[in-house]
Amino acid sequence: MQHKDPLLTVQGVTLQYKTPHHLITATYRVSFDVMQGDRFILLGPSGCGKSTLQKAVGGYITPTEGEMRLKGRKITQPGPDRMMVFQEFDQLLPWKTVKQNVTFALQASGRMNKREAEEKAMEYVVKVGLESFADSHPHMLSGGMKQRVAIARGMAMEPDILLMDEPFAALDALTRRRMQDELLKLWDETRFTVLFVTHSIAEAIKIGNRILLLSPHPGRVKAELNSTTDPARATELEQYIHQMLFAHEPEEAEHV
Ligand SMILES: Nc1ncnc2c1ncn2[C@@H]1O[C@H](COP(=O)(O)OP(=O)(O)OP(=O)(O)O)[C@@H](O)[C@H]1O
Ligand SMILES: [Mg+2]
Repeated sequence: MQHKDPLLTVQGVTLQYKTPHHLITATYRVSFDVMQGDRFILLGPSGCGKSTLQKAVGGYITPTEGEMRLKGRKITQPGPDRMMVFQEFDQLLPWKTVKQNVTFALQASGRMNKREAEEKAMEYVVKVGLESFADSHPHMLSGGMKQRVAIARGMAMEPDILLMDEPFAALDALTRRRMQDELLKLWDETRFTVLFVTHSIAEAIKIGNRILLLSPHPGRVKAELNSTTDPARATELEQYIHQMLFAHEPEEAEHV
């Protein structure tokens, strides 16, 4: 078997917020590796530092301890090699159309001219099934459609890694399931690498091939697991993860 280096290495990363009166430790010495093509999940209870970790990979927060490397290069600032998709529906520019929202990001990166950016944008608008809404403005779209635009915008940049922070959490259950299926279909087509944050165990198992379990605040690595596509094993895995996450914190045992 051919040896492959990880795409992203997170090594002993402690992340802290300094407020005037407090020092809040969000994660403590977290380590993991993401390989090319992984659908890597950060899973853990609210406040365990999932979003903080994502922001650090995005280059928006600097570790107080440890380091993060993408393709061997230390992450020190944001860059077009890492694109983020958030939970909020208002991440699009309201005065731009669907196509313009995607084009804008491509042009801003300075990697292509207007015509090339428009072509690339349309390619990804079509991929997420929104070609008939290309000229619509965000206020005319449902929550799920807005998330599709945000995904198209992130993917069109063809980043080394797509960072998704609970992208479907604000959607109704049916739309959420549909979006999960669509994301997997897109992955089948393009085999992108994604670091996906969720606090839903079922979503983690469905979307991920690798799952990192984090302990409650401050987040430490509890376990790293392989996911499964076998429905019989998925139920077992779901129970196992639930035990792992909530064994000593029964008050945290929310239904996810
Ligand atoms: N800007 C900030 N300033 C100070 N503390 C913060 C800030 N953002 C997050 N925190 C704290 O850091 C810890 C981790 O927060 P984070 O948002 O990363 O958790 P999370 O796992 O994403 O939670 P959730 O599932 O609720 O989104 C929490 O204790 C939170 O209160
Ligand atoms: Mg969060």
